[in-house]
Amino acid sequence: MGKVLSSKWTKVFAFLLCLVPLFLGANPIEKITHPTGDWTIWFLLITLSVTPLRKLLNQPKLARFRRMLGLFAFFYGCLHLTTWLWLDKFFDVREMWQDVVKRRFITVGMLAFVCLIPLAITSTNGWVRRLGFVRWQRLHRLVYFSALAGVIHYYWLVKSDVRLPLLYGGILAVLMTYRLAAWMLSKSTKRSAGAVSMLK
Ligand code: HEM
Repeated sequence: MGKVLSSKWTKVFAFLLCLVPLFLGANPIEKITHPTGDWTIWFLLITLSVTPLRKLLNQPKLARFRRMLGLFAFFYGCLHLTTWLWLDKFFDVREMWQDVVKRRFITVGMLAFVCLIPLAITSTNGWVRRLGFVRWQRLHRLVYFSALAGVIHYYWLVKSDVRLPLLYGGILAVLMTYRLAAWMLSKSTKRSAGAVSMLK
């Protein structure tokens, strides 16, 4: 498994796989908003699953895919936003602004998208070095906020059947609980290690 995950070709294959949604179905352009929205939230959740899976399956090489998956979430988010800007609003800035302030699902969707911009910009190794790993890691916690805002955006836009947004919210809650538990565990381990070293 480790050998497959570290191969260059596995990453190339994963990259091509991430592009498949672009070619799925012969959607007329008006129907692009929904699938691109779906792919944005799916890629956000997939990206957030990498760390728990890496730890639970003991597969450190999975980390190689996280940046690419996160950038695909941004890519589909850009397509999703573009279809709204273009097909819905015809690039009319006044109309766009009115939509953002009047419709709460658009406001929170915009918030979800805006949170992804600094993450995409600082996704390179150069930016990790420039910011320092700790600050970079802190900044990249914005991804949790973006995924939460994305789920709320979906929940607020559906008219009656809220099963899917609730499912995504549930998946996000599980992923966040895992992170919180891992963080609390590492804190208490550090504390008890500190106590042991004081006793020595
Ligand atoms: C991270 C950011 C975002 C995520 C994860 C996201 C996700 C989604 C999802 C899952 C859907 C429903 C798709 C379906 O019904 O199958 C959707 C629909 C939609 N989104 Fe977003 N979205 C985001 C940002 C935005 C932004 C920035 C805008 C516009 C400013 C926007 C406008 C819309 C519109 C207009 C719809 C269709 C609503 C309808 O006609 O029912 N979204 N989005």
